Amino acid sequence: MILKVARLGYPSVRTVAAPVPVDQIRTHDFQKLIDDMVETMHEYSGVGLAAPQVHLAIQLAVLEVENHPRYPEMPSVPLTVLINPIVTILDSTPVDEFEGCLSIPDLRGRVPRFKQLRVTALGRDGEALDIVASDFHARVIQHETDHLKGEVYLDRMPDMRSLGFLLEWQRFMLPPPPSQK
Ligand code: NI
Repeated sequence: MILKVARLGYPSVRTVAAPVPVDQIRTHDFQKLIDDMVETMHEYSGVGLAAPQVHLAIQLAVLEVENHPRYPEMPSVPLTVLINPIVTILDSTPVDEFEGCLSIPDLRGRVPRFKQLRVTALGRDGEALDIVASDFHARVIQHETDHLKGEVYLDRMPDMRSLGFLLEWQRFMLPPPPSQK
């Protein structure tokens, strides 16, 4: 089922998400929520989606970059479900790229992100995950885990003058990588 995506201004987008109780993960309802979030991410051509974006302030996010129709040049990231993630920065070198967000439609802005991180989390069956990610993969994880803290990419932009509508960027400038998360 495709879920309605909450836009910036809806309270869950600005709420610090609560941890998911571990004994809830394998329930039918929670598994259905994960499937629905993956379906919703695919429907809107996102590379990630966090539960606060579907009106639920809980620590759950999904991400995937694979044969993306609009960004075939992006390195692929396998479908990953992150529950109660904890991020440790391994390389704090800032990397600048444009970002978008399904909760902030049509806009893109330049955001510095840390180059490399480790994320530990539970996967969709409650299994322990330990992932080291770099560059674009690390960017997607930082974007999604920010959502779980009630933060959006606008909060990370040092220069709001790089914010613009994707359509205008495409009309007048070199298109930025238009990833939506
Ligand atoms: Ni987002």
